[in-house]
Amino acid sequence: MILALTCTLISFVFLQEKCEGFALRTFVPSMTNAKRSSPRTSSSRLYVQQWQPPTGNDNMNANQESILLSLDDIEDPYVNLETKRYFDGTKPDSGINLAVQNFKRQGATIIDQLLEIIRIRPMDPYAPPECLQLSLSNEAVTEAERQREAAGGGVDAHPVSRALYDVGCLFLDRLFDGRPIERFWFLEIIARIPYFTYVSMLHLYESLGWFRASELRKVHAAEDWNELHHLLIMESLGGNRRWSDRFLGYHVAIVYYWVLVLVYLGSPRIAYQFMELLEAHAVDTYTTFINENRSRLAALPAPKVAKSYYTSGDLYLFDDFQVSRAPGSRRPPCETLLETFINIATDEGEHVKTMIACQNYSDGYGTTVVSPHLQFDKGAENTKIDLNSEQLEAIEDEKRALWKKWSAQVNNEWR
Ligand SMILES: [Fe+2]
Ligand SMILES: [Fe+2]
Repeated sequence: MILALTCTLISFVFLQEKCEGFALRTFVPSMTNAKRSSPRTSSSRLYVQQWQPPTGNDNMNANQESILLSLDDIEDPYVNLETKRYFDGTKPDSGINLAVQNFKRQGATIIDQLLEIIRIRPMDPYAPPECLQLSLSNEAVTEAERQREAAGGGVDAHPVSRALYDVGCLFLDRLFDGRPIERFWFLEIIARIPYFTYVSMLHLYESLGWFRASELRKVHAAEDWNELHHLLIMESLGGNRRWSDRFLGYHVAIVYYWVLVLVYLGSPRIAYQFMELLEAHAVDTYTTFINENRSRLAALPAPKVAKSYYTSGDLYLFDDFQVSRAPGSRRPPCETLLETFINIATDEGEHVKTMIACQNYSDGYGTTVVSPHLQFDKGAENTKIDLNSEQLEAIEDEKRALWKKWSAQVNNEWR
């Protein structure tokens, strides 16, 4: 009964949005209210009010440019993630408590979305992502993919994987047509799931004593950390404002997780290969998006969370998922939204390389996948050390010999 009601509600929401087109924009009021109550709200609102969408095709007139250039003092005009904690719960709690709290929060946003669809509640025209007026052509993404595959960059995927992938792309094109930021948010929600699966399966194998690959597990954890920041960037741009998108994203993610668990149980190589397909698609999508919106993205500042992830603090985990690069060899700028999206597209390319390395490792003819901090000699920058299983064992033997020598010394001293 509940399932039937939920399905009907989702169908209604999506149908309404399709029928009404882009005019039916929704937002989560509590998120907007939280934003308005923060000190940054006034500058944020001022920013989007002053920033009028270009009338031509991604061209700005001189007046608009002068407005944008004078907005350097605005800290972060996007959705304030710090006030968004309500959305993911406020503290670790029992499952039942978290479920009830979540049900209340989400229930309120369902009503808000419905009120906006039937135009009882007015929309905020200055809330991201709509106010950013960004675009993405499905045809251009398909063409970018075709060109990559024609140039030899295709993924030699299992026919079943390819069929599932093609259906998924068709679904994305239809559901998120004209809504690129929401599409990216949905992609990033899904993109993290395989890394959760890989870590879970490696934990399982390790717990059973079947296979231990703690370095591989560490690399996958760093990949998850990277995808998490892509997700946070999309949330700061308002990619998860609609309850219907969130509902779909979270539920698809749960199903995807368990399907991948079964696939990994049968063949880790196929599980990694499917992820290579998705990561290559992400490169095509982000690259097309950048080309289509270049000047507009260059005029907008980077979200705070992006600056923080790419340019400040300890970048150990940022280095750790890029297994073909020496630690510290990639330190990209992140001042504008353009640089933010270029960084994300480059990250996706690094994930592709890591997935290829994992497939080779699974096939048994590649080298062991380990953290770049172990793989590269810290003393010789950009010098890669290929470590196979025998070499890793030799390192372990050497360490054990040192321990034996030390214990012999200690025993002699105590005699
Ligand atoms: Fe991503
Ligand atoms: Fe990715």
